[in-house]
Amino acid sequence: MSHSTPIRWGLLGAARIAASALVPALRHNISPIVAVGCRDAQRGAAFAARHHIAEVESYEGLIARDDIDAVYIALPNHAHLPWTLAALAAGKHVLCEKPLSLTAVEAAQIRAASLASGRLALEAFMYRFHPQIERLCALIAGGALGPLRWLRGSFTYSLQDNTDVRWDAKLGGGALYDLGCYPLNLMRMVSQAEPSVLSVASRLTAPAADGGRVDHAAHAVMRFDTAEGPVLGHLDCALSLPFHCQFEALCEKTLLRLPIPFTSKGTDTELQVGDYTEHFSACDPYALMVAHFEAAVRGECALRFGLDDSVAQARALDALLSQAHATPID
Ligand SMILES: NC(=O)c1ccc[n+]([C@@H]2O[C@H](COP(=O)([O-])OP(=O)(O)OC[C@H]3O[C@@H](n4cnc5c(N)ncnc54)[C@H](OP(=O)(O)O)[C@@H]3O)[C@@H](O)[C@H]2O)c1
Repeated sequence: MSHSTPIRWGLLGAARIAASALVPALRHNISPIVAVGCRDAQRGAAFAARHHIAEVESYEGLIARDDIDAVYIALPNHAHLPWTLAALAAGKHVLCEKPLSLTAVEAAQIRAASLASGRLALEAFMYRFHPQIERLCALIAGGALGPLRWLRGSFTYSLQDNTDVRWDAKLGGGALYDLGCYPLNLMRMVSQAEPSVLSVASRLTAPAADGGRVDHAAHAVMRFDTAEGPVLGHLDCALSLPFHCQFEALCEKTLLRLPIPFTSKGTDTELQVGDYTEHFSACDPYALMVAHFEAAVRGECALRFGLDDSVAQARALDALLSQAHATPID
């Protein structure tokens, strides 16, 4: 594929995030959206009309089309594995929403399928493509601020809609899958190490009719063993608390702080480094992610974040979730 070759996209799921973020990101990159896959043809047609997409398909019909190169999957978390595997097997490249899978075993299945098919799969952690994140990592890796000592990341909000997929254990609901995955991911990136979980305090929902419970809040302390010694990571996430989202990294000489680490689309942001502040103009990290993914599909570059990273991320989430469900505080 040459630089000028457009990547032709299909959307799997007429999801809110597809409407609010990925359709604008694809349009920003002038990438054709060939069809949307929806379980309900009428709802799919309304979505397609609203977003000027020519065709509506079933999920199966969408991945079977030979005029689609890449599929964006914005389904509930439990559906990421089967539809990523199906799309790869059909010869599509896959950009799949976070978390890529429910477990590390599933992430490893996706890695094997990607290798076998020769098609790419990327976990859509768009926040990583914002320049403020690259700058944070570069400053810490540069070493001038002293060794990293602790990390603190929070992502909480109050989810009022009690029919939302995030409340359903069968669909891969819960705060760690939905929100905790972000600070965890950034801690792993900044420290360049994998965590051991020291403690988790969680709050679980009351059992649903099928007995399922999700963590509506989780608070974890982790240890990241780096070349310069252990780094402590303190993570908070919740679907049941007011909005609070920030990230801090304390090096021996300086505190670095990102007031808008994960919700940075379309807003000016800043990185506070001790007593000075670096400013970043508003940008669209979803569009930056799409541009990078498309370049990798065309063979112009390697993916910056591969499936080994997704497997390691899922392994860390496995450890957090198993403790969250073993030791709820209420
Ligand atoms: N990167 C980000 O910034 C970001 C932000 C929000 C969400 N996300 C991720 O995106 C994914 C979707 O989240 P969302 O908030 O957009 O969800 P949503 O609006 O509820 O959409 C989920 C879609 O999944 C489909 N679906 C398939 N099986 C379903 C089932 N059993 N129950 C309900 N829906 C089902 C539906 O598609 P049909 O149209 O076929 O019915 C629905 O449109 C999640 O993995 C989430 O973690 C990422």
